[in-house]
Amino acid sequence: MAWRAAFARPASVPVADAADLSPARIELGRRLFEDPRLSANGLLSCASCHDSKLSFADGVALGKGIAGTPLARHTPMLWNLAWGRTLFWDGRAASLEEQARGPIENPLEMGSTVTKAVAGVSSDATMRTAFAAAFPERPQVSEDNLLAALAAFERTLVSPETRFDHWVKGDDGALTSEELAGFRLFTGKAGCVSCHSGWRFTDEAFHDIGLAGEDKGRGAILGLAAADHAFKTPSLRELAWTAPYMHDGSLATLEEVVDHYVSGVRDRPTLSADLPRGLSLTAEERAQLVAFLNALSSDDPPRAASLPPTVQASAPEPGVSATTVSQKNKTFAPGSIRLVAGTGLTIVNDDTRTHNVRVDDPRLAYNSAAQEPGDKVVLTFGEPGFYTVTCGIHPQMRLTVEVSRAE
Ligand code: HEC
Ligand code: HEC
Repeated sequence: MAWRAAFARPASVPVADAADLSPARIELGRRLFEDPRLSANGLLSCASCHDSKLSFADGVALGKGIAGTPLARHTPMLWNLAWGRTLFWDGRAASLEEQARGPIENPLEMGSTVTKAVAGVSSDATMRTAFAAAFPERPQVSEDNLLAALAAFERTLVSPETRFDHWVKGDDGALTSEELAGFRLFTGKAGCVSCHSGWRFTDEAFHDIGLAGEDKGRGAILGLAAADHAFKTPSLRELAWTAPYMHDGSLATLEEVVDHYVSGVRDRPTLSADLPRGLSLTAEERAQLVAFLNALSSDDPPRAASLPPTVQASAPEPGVSATTVSQKNKTFAPGSIRLVAGTGLTIVNDDTRTHNVRVDDPRLAYNSAAQEPGDKVVLTFGEPGFYTVTCGIHPQMRLTVEVSRAE
């Protein structure tokens, strides 16, 4: 079945540098993750909310931090974030390192500062030794090192293989006929795969799926009404361990989630173009979908799979000469182009979705606002060099532009 290849697991974890995943750095990150000295009252660690026995989630709709008041959003699990394009439900952090500052400094969560956290752990001689081993090039207990160690540990949290993966690899007997029927619905009539795609079951994009509530999600981050109520598509791995579900923790079971897609969607102008409208599923089909979702979870509390790191090439791909780029199927095509400074680049929304073309660069700051299907935008690059164009709603979309000097 052609679909199997679309869900094949990677063999290694992407890193920017081999030292990012040294055993000493991972071990330090694990200790810091469980260290309550990172919180203002010395009682709360990352692990207090991201419990390894609950797939690094917390088992409640809305958790509580040191302030004792319910948090604004549900605590997500932490599997497979090494591949994450953005972090948080609204994607407001661009890396795990940047993300880790968030909970430490959030007054409702750990209520401290990274500066104070550094002071707290550096008074401990064993921690000073662990930092020196983890960062031989810059052996201090510093803010950057603390955040980098936490991120290193998180990059090792790769969810283990489940029966679904055995089936993907060719073991036809690994899934029951009910689960297979669920998979066919997932990739077919129910339309789940338009957003829950790839081995992690996420397109890394932001969608309004019609849950109740006033939280603006991605829209507030982008300042873009078209992205109001849109949240990052969560991965669907190990969900058996992470109930309740959704950014607000409002759905208690996978049955309730499936029912939401059938009859719970609130009609709003911001609903995702990828969301199936008027979906109708029999009781049997709903049960099949839930059975399939459960086949993406381990039978016992999951333990991280250990994958070797692979250093990602940082040099941009050579581009083709072009002045027009398509956006069909949430993809810039071509994905890497060359043009001459001063020439207009036309980006055509020939897709079915709203896009938000952005360049965040000191030489050129560009924001198309809501680019609806049919809309074209034209960008002009004045200075030579490499630029990255992205979409604020679908950050997996990447266009590399190499601008050469006008003769
Ligand atoms: C008080 C509970 C609490 C604590 C403590 C906490 N978190 Fe979280 N974490 C959350 C919540 C809630 C969110 C979602 C917030 C949002 O999206 O706005 C979150 C989100 C995250 C995410 C983003 C996951 C994703 O899928 O985008 C990561 C990574 C993370 N936390 C790591 C950490 C680390 C590292 C620490 C310790 C430094 C930590 N958390 C401490 C509750 C907590
Ligand atoms: C339009 C894109 C889209 C489609 C189509 C879609 N989902 Fe989702 N899914 C999301 C987003 C976005 C969320 C998180 C929404 C939120 O919290 O506001 C989500 C959340 C979920 C969750 C909860 C995961 C968690 O950790 O909280 C499950 C389970 C799920 N979807 C299953 C499905 C199934 C089954 C289908 C097909 C019937 C489906 N989805 C179709 C985008 C989509």
